[in-house]
Amino acid sequence: MRQQQGARSSGWRCGVRGLLWLLCSLSARPLLADAPAGDRHLGVATCAGSTCHGATRPFAGSAIRQDEYFIWQRQDPHAGALRSLQTPEADAISRRLGMGPAASAENCLSCHAENVPAALRGERFVADDGIGCESCHGASERWIGTHVKGYRTDDERLAAGLHATWKPAVRAELCASCHVGDADHRIDHRTMAAGHPPLLFELDTFTALEPPHWDVDDDYRARKGDADGARDWAVGQAAAARRVLAKLMRTPVAGGLMPELSLFDCNACHHGTRAGRANAERNGGMPVGTPPLADTPLVMLQPWLDLIDPAMAAEWRRHWTALHAAASDSREALQREADAMTRLIDRRIVPLAERSRLSPLQLRQLVAAIVTAAGDRHRGDFSHAEHTAMAVSVLATAWSERQRTPAPTALKPALDAVYREVQDRDRFSPARWTDSLKAVISALGG
Ligand code: HEC
Ligand code: HEC
Ligand code: HEC
Ligand code: HEC
Repeated sequence: MRQQQGARSSGWRCGVRGLLWLLCSLSARPLLADAPAGDRHLGVATCAGSTCHGATRPFAGSAIRQDEYFIWQRQDPHAGALRSLQTPEADAISRRLGMGPAASAENCLSCHAENVPAALRGERFVADDGIGCESCHGASERWIGTHVKGYRTDDERLAAGLHATWKPAVRAELCASCHVGDADHRIDHRTMAAGHPPLLFELDTFTALEPPHWDVDDDYRARKGDADGARDWAVGQAAAARRVLAKLMRTPVAGGLMPELSLFDCNACHHGTRAGRANAERNGGMPVGTPPLADTPLVMLQPWLDLIDPAMAAEWRRHWTALHAAASDSREALQREADAMTRLIDRRIVPLAERSRLSPLQLRQLVAAIVTAAGDRHRGDFSHAEHTAMAVSVLATAWSERQRTPAPTALKPALDAVYREVQDRDRFSPARWTDSLKAVISALGG
């Protein structure tokens, strides 16, 4: 797992964001359903003109950088996503799955390419371009001619057919569609057993790692609103939680003996056979021997809710416990709980996350609560540890930026150490992990 490198430009996370996000918070529909279907994808080449987005360095005096193509092509893993299917590693996966070459397997292409039907590909569309500009920004057929002028309002951008990538909830849905998976981007235990890396996702960390091909400067803030790492962390957890619940509901229960194993935490099964590891608290109170669900984002929302809305936190905890019980009960019970949690996410948690702006004190309390849960209830839970490393890093960075005083010198090495502990699932040491978390708390002065 890669780590965000270095602090970002100071412009990254200050200021509050106002009303803009309202639009996507009011309905229970998937947020991306707002994007138009049926427009053609004209291809990366149409964006890459040297006076458009294909400059080799930022244009002085322009609102946008204009070297976005250059950054994408040289540094963005999405540009090479299709090439990753043309490697011996990918072919080994597809061979173990008994499929043909990975680079022509529909399932692999759904996440590793801009996988639009032939009828929606313009003349300059090149499949080899991997995950191109229009995968994230939307099909350009309608806006390619007009968007050089720029847009004054969100309504203008949306009417042109751009995806609202600047809204955290929309961006989170977009990234999570592939990085957690959904009905159109499916990844199962067989694929991982064949060698595919397990997926993980955190919005702020992944945005920083992409890396950004945009600058959040004064001009950007005026046009599109501010960046706020702590807010984006919460919005991203909500988007991931929603995908997890959808996956629980989507996956058919087979007639035979086998459930879909990736619905459960990897470590539920992949560990030794000595007793003493099970923890009912991790498992919604279910008896020992019940595999815990792969529910990390649901769990990560709990300490955040505890801090900002205790009543909703209690409701969430009740549902979470009921969800675990329902998973061992009936399809109907599971559906009921998953629906109720999805409604809470859409109607209350996402709007709350979008509005949230935690104070330095709250950020420190949140880091402390996450660290306590990780060392206690979730000790030994690797997926939770990975997501804790990202959360602690994002939230501690937000804390130090919001303090408006230089970060304590012990913070960076402490965060590096936390990341080191989650580099390798097979060498994960709960004891060393817990110590590394303590060092973060002490760097925060707690
Ligand atoms: C169409 C599916 C898709 C979408 C949408 C998508 N990604 Fe990805 N992403 C991938 C794939 C596939 C890879 C792996 C690329 C490779 O190395 O082959 C990847 C890799 C990455 C990586 C590198 C991960 C690592 O461990 O090094 C980051 C960071 C990332 N994506 C961030 C994002 C962000 C942020 C968004 C939303 C703005 C996003 N992605 C949207 C499919 C997608
Ligand atoms: C649900 C979306 C999804 C599907 C389906 C999917 N992948 Fe991936 N794949 C990803 C993402 C995301 C990553 C990057 C993981 C990360 O680093 O976080 C990735 C990484 C990889 C890598 C490692 C790339 C690298 O640079 O290290 C290989 C190889 C790979 N995928 C092959 C495949 C093959 C073969 C298939 C089909 C059997 C497939 N993938 C299906 C999303 C997907
Ligand atoms: C993985 C998703 C993804 C891909 C691929 C992608 N972008 Fe972006 N892009 C984003 C996100 C997220 C933002 C930041 C939010 C915003 O301003 O919309 C952004 C911002 C931008 C901006 C800044 C707009 C501004 O107002 O300052 C431009 C321009 C842009 N992208 C162009 C491109 C071009 C050109 C390509 C292809 C070469 C591309 N993007 C590929 C996700 C993506
Ligand atoms: C409910 C139990 C269960 C869960 C949860 C589970 N697995 Fe498995 N896994 C198995 C079984 C059973 C096998 C096949 C037997 C074997 O190879 O040990 C297997 C096999 C594998 C293999 C292949 C091992 C080999 O030697 O070829 C890998 C890799 C793997 N799983 C990864 C994962 C990952 C990653 C996750 C989490 C996303 C996960 N598993 C979740 C039960 C599980």
